[in-house]
Amino acid sequence: MEMESKKKKTIFSGVAPSGNIHIGNYLGAIKQWVKIQESGEFRTIFCVVDEHAITVPQDPEKLRAKIMEVAALYLAVGIDPEKSLIFIQSHVSEHAELGWILNTITPLGELQRMTQFKDKSQKQKSILAGLFNYPTLMAADILLYQTNLVPVGEDQLQHIELTRTLAKKFNAQFGETFVIPEPMINKTGARIMGLDNPENKMSKSAESPNNYIALLDSPETIRKKIKVAVTDSGSEIKYDREKKPAVSNLLTIYSLFAEKPIEEIEKEYEGKGYAEFKKDLAEVIIEGLSPLQAKYKEFENNPDAVMAILKKGAEKAKETASRTMSEVREKIGFV
Ligand code: TYM
Repeated sequence: MEMESKKKKTIFSGVAPSGNIHIGNYLGAIKQWVKIQESGEFRTIFCVVDEHAITVPQDPEKLRAKIMEVAALYLAVGIDPEKSLIFIQSHVSEHAELGWILNTITPLGELQRMTQFKDKSQKQKSILAGLFNYPTLMAADILLYQTNLVPVGEDQLQHIELTRTLAKKFNAQFGETFVIPEPMINKTGARIMGLDNPENKMSKSAESPNNYIALLDSPETIRKKIKVAVTDSGSEIKYDREKKPAVSNLLTIYSLFAEKPIEEIEKEYEGKGYAEFKKDLAEVIIEGLSPLQAKYKEFENNPDAVMAILKKGAEKAKETASRTMSEVREKIGFV
């Protein structure tokens, strides 16, 4: 048993507890975590990355609530503490420690290239050093656990590329220490676009709540948001990323929730209009989210149980993280 688990490849991923966790996060990342866990083929680690959330200003009370919300959502979608490690980043101090050390081998130019930094910093009045250094902390998250695969949406690819660069650089400079991780990206759903603007990805920090459907949105809200979602000119329900970006995005969402191929949905709606398609889409989403919303309520009403799971998770995570850190300290010449 022990031998077998040692051979398993390691999966690591996380969500930052900021804004409203939405169906883009779910379809692009979290939904596949559960599948990966259930395959039983991997050692799976899922983290609530609170230290990433504070790279933009947060209200402490809201942050505390959001961290517990994300943890409860992980459990509600089916992350099972018997099968996966689930914990909060700040409970394992090695993340911040390795993040610092990786900063010292990260060329400024690498961080300046990051498109997510460019996007996010535009929205800030005062740009904080933490937002700039964010990708080195993400690299630390991944490298601490000798991760092989990182299941994420497309927007995180550049960060994983940087993680690989840093791991290779460290290994070359100080000797083999880190496994070089690879991204794991869904074929469809890796980039769900905003409902109010199909040119940009659906985003937790979007100004208008009509940009996204949050995992905890009520059926009424979902119906309203889909009703006002942007569509394209013409009336055909057809997948065409170039000419019909909005409808293509809605079709992708429909297909992933209904677990039906897009062509089949196109056929079903031949000769029908946007209004009918949207009405059904709202119901498909409501139905898709209803089991996790019901489970979420159970965990929401039982924060002590959630905290106990997180505490146990952090203890286990620390075993691996501290092992990696001892090696890192030794290799770089700390006494
Ligand atoms: P975050 O919290 O912004 O997003 C969580 C996950 O959701 C994916 N995602 C999307 N997928 C499809 N369509 C979208 N519109 C969409 N928006 C977001 C993201 O790609 C991500 O997988 N830096 C990370 C958190 C992080 C992390 C890590 C991830 C910190 N350390 C280590 C993996 C490994 C982030 O901000 O994700």
